[in-house]
Amino acid sequence: MRRREGGIAERWSRRQSSHGWWNFGGDGRKEFHSIDSTLLPSPLYSQAYTDRWQTMSYAGGVPGREPMQVSTAPRKPRILLAACGSVSAIKFGHLCSCFSDWADVKAVVTPASMNFVDLSSIPKNVMLYTDEHEWSSWSKIGDSVLHIELRRWADIMVIAPLSANTLAKIAGGLCDNLLTSIVRAWDYEKPIFVAPSMNTYMWKNAFTERHIIVIDELGINLIPPASHRLATGEYGTGVMAEPSFIFSTVRLFLESRKKASSSSSRT
Ligand SMILES: Cc1cc2nc3c(=O)[nH]c(=O)nc-3n(C[C@H](O)[C@H](O)[C@H](O)COP(=O)(O)O)c2cc1C
Repeated sequence: MRRREGGIAERWSRRQSSHGWWNFGGDGRKEFHSIDSTLLPSPLYSQAYTDRWQTMSYAGGVPGREPMQVSTAPRKPRILLAACGSVSAIKFGHLCSCFSDWADVKAVVTPASMNFVDLSSIPKNVMLYTDEHEWSSWSKIGDSVLHIELRRWADIMVIAPLSANTLAKIAGGLCDNLLTSIVRAWDYEKPIFVAPSMNTYMWKNAFTERHIIVIDELGINLIPPASHRLATGEYGTGVMAEPSFIFSTVRLFLESRKKASSSSSRT
């Protein structure tokens, strides 16, 4: 398989300057959706924002039990963070910390990511789920299914880092662990963000371009990797965006969407 000249992965090798996310068409055209950064509350972690967050929330929601109750009480956004087996998963604890003051956070890790994630760095108020939990929480028909419950619970999912392997699995529709089962069962009325992290040659590989186009078609938002200095002294792209950048991108996204929906409901 030959990569087209100036492939998507290559053409992303800039940015990290402004907040937003990329979408692109199968013809290779890409479009950057910028977010009005004046929407970002100051200070970044202000409680005021959390208090203003108001959305319909599910109470209960276990299949086969009580019907889901709808509550309009203000609550924090619910963020489902997930890590794959990329070196950048060493920053996963920091990523959880960035989100955990502002949002209710639950975390999902793949078996490979556990080689990198420092469990002691995960904030105490963040519940961490592994493939073990998927099976230990289910024994018979009628029991809740963890990947469905987490999908229901979350307002938004953020996979950071996203490995080449999990990118390929999502693009191919595979669902052989907790993380990929959540994505396969996802309700695309709710956003998913991914922040890939991989070796520069993996990132430039033609498969990456194909898989990124497929996940874009699914409606998944990309926070592209940044450039970094390679051992050879050259610069390459593939390192995960900084946790603080991922956090502010997601937060600005939710703020701008909320602002847009409140102004359309006034008109
Ligand atoms: C030391 C080491 C570092 C790795 N770093 C990365 C990486 O940065 N990005 C990546 O996509 N894969 C990386 N891999 C390969 C993945 O861990 C491997 O493909 C794994 O199957 C990913 O599983 P997951 O997608 O289920 O998390 C690395 C492997 C090792 C042994």
